[in-house]
Amino acid sequence: MKTLGIETSCDETAIAIYDSEKGIVGESIYSQINMHAEYGGVVPELASRDHCSKIVKVLKNALGDHPLDSIDQIAYTSGPGLLGALLIGESFAQGLSEALDIPLIPINHLEGHLMSPMMEFPEIKMPFICLLVSGGHSMIVDVKEKGDYSILGQSQDDAVGEAFDKVAKLLDLPYPGGPHIEKLALEGDENAYDFPRPMLHSDTLDMSLSGLKTSVLYTVQKISNLDQSTKANIAASFQKAVTDVLVAKIQKTVNETNRNEVIIAGGVAANKYIRTKFKDLEAKIGIKVYYPDLKYCGDNAAMIAFVGSMMKPSKQDYKISSARARWPLNELGK
Ligand code: KG4
Ligand code: ZN
Repeated sequence: MKTLGIETSCDETAIAIYDSEKGIVGESIYSQINMHAEYGGVVPELASRDHCSKIVKVLKNALGDHPLDSIDQIAYTSGPGLLGALLIGESFAQGLSEALDIPLIPINHLEGHLMSPMMEFPEIKMPFICLLVSGGHSMIVDVKEKGDYSILGQSQDDAVGEAFDKVAKLLDLPYPGGPHIEKLALEGDENAYDFPRPMLHSDTLDMSLSGLKTSVLYTVQKISNLDQSTKANIAASFQKAVTDVLVAKIQKTVNETNRNEVIIAGGVAANKYIRTKFKDLEAKIGIKVYYPDLKYCGDNAAMIAFVGSMMKPSKQDYKISSARARWPLNELGK
């Protein structure tokens, strides 16, 4: 069975085909990042317009030699995300489903991220813990079984990727800042600045990153000559502070839940420094940590097609618009 997945929740127009026997057999992604970089962040109206103008070409690229009528069902991201951007993907998905007379399945984007490593590692079995860290979300989720998710902790303010982006801006690095901070940090001393690790020892699994970001801001404001080596020291010290919080929160989660498999997903999961520190935690407390393939850490349609392939379409999905900006993982059935 072939599921066509469509993702337009933010600034990537992506389409992929998941074949239940062969896995991903076609995919194409168009990133709008260069367009938004000029503004230092995603501009919602520009994102919607760009999805409109690129989506047909992205579909053609994803299909390659697969005829359109070989698709059995369509899965699309219906939330959470930018509403205007989601509506483009939804209308496109509805049109295709109507024309081909095949089922249509709305998918939660966060569920796509949670499940993404299972495409590559079918040995992963639920229950497991997922640390989902992206530009818009930072949460620790207990994945009990498909569709049954508890949010154990989340950021009270900035998402982890957002904190990377804001600190990058303070250091005059381009948007999105995560990969630039990671690269610059390689040249720096991670012990040069002792930035705060908010909520590190709190009783909850929640996190807070805005205080850390503000501390970086005050540090930068006090420096008259922000040269390359000072920037590198700040990048490395910031990255270490964030990583310390993530590692401590996952260690606490494992202690409290006794789960022994952890998935780290979302754009920030691409960070190699963070991966190294979780490798150390793996050895220290005897857990197994999985990541999606690098190309599936950020937003993509493969994860949407994959989750769609596990779902049973409902007749109701054809008729209603289910696009929504907010759709928490613990409200999936609603
Ligand atoms: O999952 P994603 O592509 O989009 C959503 O936010 O849904 O995540 C993008 C975020 C950005 O904030 C970006 O700076 C961050 O992930 N990111 C990174 C790295 N690569 C991307 N953060 C830290 N290190 C990286 N290597
Ligand atoms: Zn995402």
